[in-house]
Amino acid sequence: MAVQISPSILSADFARLAEEAARVEGVADWLHVDVMDNHFVPNLTLGLPVVEALLRATPIPIDCHLMIEDPDRWAPGYAEAGAGSVTIHAEASKAPVRTLRAIRQAGARSGFALNPATSVEVYEDLLPEIDMLLLMTVEPGFGGQRFLDVVLPKVTRARALIEKHGGEIWLQVDGGVSAETIERCAAAGADVFVAGNAVYAADDPAQAVRDLRALARLA
Ligand code: DX5
Ligand code: ZN
Repeated sequence: MAVQISPSILSADFARLAEEAARVEGVADWLHVDVMDNHFVPNLTLGLPVVEALLRATPIPIDCHLMIEDPDRWAPGYAEAGAGSVTIHAEASKAPVRTLRAIRQAGARSGFALNPATSVEVYEDLLPEIDMLLLMTVEPGFGGQRFLDVVLPKVTRARALIEKHGGEIWLQVDGGVSAETIERCAAAGADVFVAGNAVYAADDPAQAVRDLRALARLA
């Protein structure tokens, strides 16, 4: 498993997104962009126009995490705009097979996210449609929350399901991932790590990315 780090700009300065992206250029594998609609989650961030501007402003591939209602309607547009990965939530999608296929059809990696209380086993048959499974390790909506250890057994079970299906699906964790928690996540089988506060609240975000990667590789 290759470790990948995806800094979340939710913890960056929204008035300087291009500069904030540049601070992790060359060390981050992805730039994680949290799209929140104030309905699926109780927070409001940004949408497609800002993602399009970011795509023009940085060479880092964009990892779009859609925490919105009706992702079936909106997700393909993010893929068509050029996001490298587009993730929809199981709890919000009414037609996940169609939408995951539409994301791939538009040239992006298809991501499927589960909240902490959502079981992974019921989605086993969908794994062939998924390029990246995202397990939330906080309740979605805000950066800087405390990591939920209760999700770790699901990370282990998800890794086992992925191996059973050929091992090619990436397993992402998002929420409270830091120098204190990343080794546990990696040991449980995660290989893509979103980090908001742990990167952008650091004095040197690039060094924070390097440190997180080194810790994940230790596990
Ligand atoms: C939360 C978002 C996360 C958030 C993580 O709902 O999906 O991507 O930015 O932030 P930290 O790493 O600070 O918990
Ligand atoms: Zn996220």
